[in-house]
Amino acid sequence: MKDKYKAALITLSDKGYAGEREDKSGPAMEAGLDPSVFEVTHRLLLPDDRGSIEKELMRLCDEEGVDLILTTGGTGFSLRDVTPEATLAVADRNVPGIAEAVRAMSMQYTKRAMLSRAVSVMRGSTLIINLPGSPKAVKECMDFVMDTVVHGLDIMTGRDSDCSR
Ligand code: MTE
Repeated sequence: MKDKYKAALITLSDKGYAGEREDKSGPAMEAGLDPSVFEVTHRLLLPDDRGSIEKELMRLCDEEGVDLILTTGGTGFSLRDVTPEATLAVADRNVPGIAEAVRAMSMQYTKRAMLSRAVSVMRGSTLIINLPGSPKAVKECMDFVMDTVVHGLDIMTGRDSDCSR
């Protein structure tokens, strides 16, 4: 049996961090991961603070060696929304297709999907994907991308070298 991929889940929310709002989006991310494929090793709730987000992303990639980091929240137009900036700051390779596909798919649910500035990138051999903040959006986006993301992880980690179908 293959080893499971290590996944870290980060909720970015000032209100959640202050205890003023229950985090339903972190559990929604976890529900979207197939437990036979992923082991969730880290669950974090952070404020919308760029320095803290960058620090945790780097630690999870460089020291904890997680394969996949999913973030939820902080991708919109509020001046406190800095998740994409923090993610880009730690990236060494861009993976635009995942964020593009999620945004395009999401337009069928709401035109406001165009207001999500989410990005998808790699740092070393960790894939980082930003998701919007609502639990509904998290489910919609993960239902759409996760099977293809697993194939991407297989290629990234060298478990699979064949992209043909
Ligand atoms: N994507 C999907 N699939 N479903 C949604 O309901 N909501 C949008 C968008 N993406 C939505 C979605 C809305 S209303 C906003 S404002 C942006 O994501 C940014 O969300 P965030 O600031 O919570 O990250």
